[in-house]
Amino acid sequence: QSFFKPISSAAPPSPTKRHTKISVVGAGNVGMAIAQTILTQDLADELVLIDVNPDKLRGEMLDLQHAAAFLPRTKILASVDYAVTVGSDLCIVTAGARQTLGESRLNLLQRNVALFRKIIPPLVKFSPDTILLIVSNPVDVLTHVAWKLSGFPSNRVLGSGTNLDSSRFRFLIADHLDVNAQDVQAYIVGEHGDSSVALWSSISVGGVPVLSFLEKQEIAYEKETLEEIHKAVVDSAYEVISLKGYTSWAIGYSVANLARSILRDQRKIHPVSVLAKGFYGVEGGEVFLSLPAQLGRGGVLGVTNIHLTDEEEQRLRDSARTILDVQSQLNL
Ligand code: NAI
Ligand code: LAC
Repeated sequence: QSFFKPISSAAPPSPTKRHTKISVVGAGNVGMAIAQTILTQDLADELVLIDVNPDKLRGEMLDLQHAAAFLPRTKILASVDYAVTVGSDLCIVTAGARQTLGESRLNLLQRNVALFRKIIPPLVKFSPDTILLIVSNPVDVLTHVAWKLSGFPSNRVLGSGTNLDSSRFRFLIADHLDVNAQDVQAYIVGEHGDSSVALWSSISVGGVPVLSFLEKQEIAYEKETLEEIHKAVVDSAYEVISLKGYTSWAIGYSVANLARSILRDQRKIHPVSVLAKGFYGVEGGEVFLSLPAQLGRGGVLGVTNIHLTDEEEQRLRDSARTILDVQSQLNL
């Protein structure tokens, strides 16, 4: 007997909206920041948390379920058993070791590759049609590892990459110019890390290229100022980690932003870690790094062809070399 007395004998229409399921692997600082943003932004009908710590998992699940009166209705599950991820539309991987004070992301490689060998196969087994969105660091190399372990086509494996760096970049530029960060179109590409590349030549504010915007506003700028802003982006994570021990909120919003573009088929352009071989002169091996890519329900729909200066293209190739040198340590 249903709680409600039907108002007509007609059967309710079958739900036309497709059931959307997201699994988040790793219920730590980052995984939970992503999970709560997914719930707040109503991005899924079902959210699954996976971790190796059962008490942490149950605690986080209950704590989120207790917010049900304030959130769009979402089924929340948590388990150490990957069977609960079955049929996921999107699997977000945040499991793994994080940087300690002053440690670089690349230092985490061996520990996290070992975890990926245990995490990726069961995700693929239970959701052979899913899209893998990698967050764990070093995210570019681990996205390559996830691609190799999954056997998926490259459009269904991407890393959060410099979507976060680009948000930090847009914040700093917006703060410098006293405008809204959402009116600043700016990309950081390459490695999500110390060798990232700021695409100064393509930055625009309200559709106006920034360098000519500054000239029009007679805002003096030195090349050094631009380099200082990019350096502040590169230093961001180290500073936050030194102050609170980890980063979580910005990456939470960044990954939910990517999940929305994918699951709602937004066909939006994001700087994310994709298989970059052959783009912008990147050669020398199969490498994942961030390029402006169009995202939709099929994952990575394409890489945009924006103009890079010779210097920007060279820096991008240098960044690719940095990643390939680290990747060469792995016997995949
Ligand atoms: P954390 O230590 O808070 O959480 C890691 C979680 O992974 C823990 O709950 C742990 O139990 C779980 N875990 C460990 N082994 C596992 C396994 N085999 N299967 C499932 N879960 C497992 O760390 P935090 O702060 O959440 O960072 C996680 C990762 O995300 C780190 O690698 C960090 O560097 C990375 N990160 C990446 C960012 C990006 O922009 N790509 C930004 C911020 C963090
Ligand atoms: C970041 C590091 C942790 O927050 O990847 O950028």
